[in-house]
Amino acid sequence: MAIEVVPLTEADIPGAIHVIQQAFADDPYFKWVFDASTFNKRRNYDSLAARCQWGIKNAIFQVAREKTDVTKDDGSSTSPSPVLGVSCWLPPQSPTQPETWASWMQGWILSFNQLINNIRYLGHGGLRTNRYWIWKQQQQKAQTEIWDDPRGYYFCNIVAVSPEAQGKGIGRLLFEAITKIADTEGVKCYLESSKNKPNVQIYERMGFEMSRTMECRDAEDACMLYCMTRNPKTE
Ligand SMILES: CC(C)(COP(=O)(O)OP(=O)(O)OC[C@H]1O[C@@H](n2cnc3c(N)ncnc32)[C@H](O)[C@@H]1OP(=O)(O)O)[C@@H](O)C(=O)NCCC(=O)NCCS
Repeated sequence: MAIEVVPLTEADIPGAIHVIQQAFADDPYFKWVFDASTFNKRRNYDSLAARCQWGIKNAIFQVAREKTDVTKDDGSSTSPSPVLGVSCWLPPQSPTQPETWASWMQGWILSFNQLINNIRYLGHGGLRTNRYWIWKQQQQKAQTEIWDDPRGYYFCNIVAVSPEAQGKGIGRLLFEAITKIADTEGVKCYLESSKNKPNVQIYERMGFEMSRTMECRDAEDACMLYCMTRNPKTE
């Protein structure tokens, strides 16, 4: 089947969230940061929806789906095929460049929407916020150590392929949609994998190399993340 990778639209958000929730159901970081006994899937949906809306304007949020003819013989439009994969990349940002007012405003709107979710659902829907902040702190430390390019990195924030569509080349297409741009611009890429096997091997196939591991520890419970970088290819 022919797959296309296209920018996420408002109409794609439910399909994209469905793929993310399915693909991350057994993810080690997800299991560490959420309390399964209080996890609220609907609250998580609304939080991801706010993130998607923010991402449409502020990130490179893309979906992969089977290519279909959008116009029928009678001139009417067919509905797009289901979302099979999703990726969200943050564009490179120089650490010395101050954040623009517009970007600050968009970040503020996202935080406000998440606050509304907290009020509506009377909490974080099972998110262990102390663990979230442990991760953020470790992430900051890792990036400070690893990121050596003053132009910044393309940062892979989310990549997920629907379980039944995995292993068919869709992940590669989602990666290549960005790595081709990064290669043309001569910019490095970065990701944090929450799984060693098979993800680290998969990302190595995309040209990433292991930079360092990142342990997020909350007393007895630890989660290991794998920080990988990719240098631009010249040919
Ligand atoms: C990780 C993920 C995005 C990869 O997408 P995918 O569509 O399954 O991957 P592809 O089929 O495009 O395979 C990409 C490459 O990895 C290789 N690969 C795929 N599955 C593999 C496996 N289990 N072991 C080793 N290599 C594998 C493929 O051979 C391919 O290499 P090639 O193109 O050079 O032959 C997808 O499996 C996924 O969503 N997993 C669950 C969610 C997740 O873990 N997200 C990332 C969190 S960090």
